[in-house]
Amino acid sequence: MATIREDNFKSKTGRHEIEALLSLISSSARDAMNEYESTGKGVPHVGSSELHELDSVYDILPLKRAIGILEGACQRLCTTLAPPAHVIGNRMAMSFEPACLRVSVRACIADILSEFPSGMHINELSLRTCIDAEKLSRTLRLLVLKGCFREVSTNVFANNRLSLTLLSSNPISASVRLFTEGLNRGVANFYETLTDPEFAYSHEPSKAPFMYDFKETTEHSDMWEVLKSQPKSRESFNRAMMGWSNITGAISALRCPVWSDLPNHASICDVGSGIGGFTIRLARQYPSLKLTLCDLPPVMAQAQTFWNADYPEAVQQKRVDFIPINFFEKIIGGYDVYYMRHIIHDWQDPQAVMILSNIRKVMTTGTRLLVQEYILPQLVEDAANRSVLNLSNPVYQPGSSKLYNLDLMMLVALNAKERALNEYVNLGVMAGLRLEKHWEFAETSLLEFRIMDPKSQISAL
Ligand SMILES: C[S@@+](CC[C@H](N)C(=O)[O-])C[C@H]1O[C@@H](n2cnc3c(N)ncnc32)[C@H](O)[C@@H]1O
Repeated sequence: MATIREDNFKSKTGRHEIEALLSLISSSARDAMNEYESTGKGVPHVGSSELHELDSVYDILPLKRAIGILEGACQRLCTTLAPPAHVIGNRMAMSFEPACLRVSVRACIADILSEFPSGMHINELSLRTCIDAEKLSRTLRLLVLKGCFREVSTNVFANNRLSLTLLSSNPISASVRLFTEGLNRGVANFYETLTDPEFAYSHEPSKAPFMYDFKETTEHSDMWEVLKSQPKSRESFNRAMMGWSNITGAISALRCPVWSDLPNHASICDVGSGIGGFTIRLARQYPSLKLTLCDLPPVMAQAQTFWNADYPEAVQQKRVDFIPINFFEKIIGGYDVYYMRHIIHDWQDPQAVMILSNIRKVMTTGTRLLVQEYILPQLVEDAANRSVLNLSNPVYQPGSSKLYNLDLMMLVALNAKERALNEYVNLGVMAGLRLEKHWEFAETSLLEFRIMDPKSQISAL
């Protein structure tokens, strides 16, 4: 039996598989080009010094789908054709790119270059940044090779489409900082925490790899406590969340019919809202909704400052409230919709059930709970998934590798995790909630829960 399975597998490898991957690459690249061309602005060049019209539109689902297939197919193609030693050699050196991105964000290289569209000499950049010219040029060159920044003539660097995304005014620059510095300390300690007896088998947020550097102090219990004690990092974290939402296209959940179907003046409570990266767009798109942001007290203070600067009319017209809460203690009742984005993935099951149960306590039969999260696809290699032409294979799903990276990032930051759909269903059941609907928006999903009939709760448990 084992031999037959192996033979089947062998017959699907080699040239046949490569030819199939090449056609996938060709068709998905054409789909992506069509999206750009549909704007009338054509397909961008990698060296383009301006953003394309689509570059700041973060929720184009057909583009995300095409890129998901393209990335999956290119990755499979290179991994198949390159010698394994070559592939591993490339992957083990991947940490340099984030390090170089971090340098360019910390030193505000894109901001400096934005004043010099035709380029700036490295000696001038070195004077402005107080970084050695030779070291800086080598740092930038690695990024140039990967399509970020241009070297327009020897040692003269200029911005391009990718580097413009690193401008400090773009919240994606805060996401780069979050991933490449704060969280990276946890990444560097990952192995140590898997073997240190105090950390290895603990699933407490206080024993996440990120907390390893703080192990000699009793001052902070988890990453949220660390952020509380560092207002600048807290502020940067909140901006990073907005950047991350742009990266994953999470804002596409605004397209869900659930919002347009709500009656005028419906009330929405965003639980663990951060500064309101999602809610501020919801407020602009649906001006009749009454919105409430709820998060820890320091975050609410920052949220008010952000809304006063970015959307003062909503604050003046009292369309938005800011209420400090601790979602482990109490959720305020009386809303038509409770919305939660990227909260459950921050916690292990017992805490996740506690948050959901606290919301469940204030829900009535008409109340909806909308949970926006990443849904982890299963990577089990069954016969169907082996076929390179099976587009439901997770390698072709938009943002798949980002999602698996994120799962480890949640482990590193908070000892938490991303989950598969059935795990969300089970958490709901444990909190007395049933999954009513599931919408997919490229990299994230929106799950609608309603309160469960108490009898079915008992049988499901
Ligand atoms: C990953 S962020 C998501 C923020 C926002 N929902 C978004 O998608 O941009 C998690 C949020 O949970 C908040 N949080 C953590 N512990 C909390 C608690 N006990 N009560 C209320 N909010 C909390 C954090 O302050 C943070 O803003």
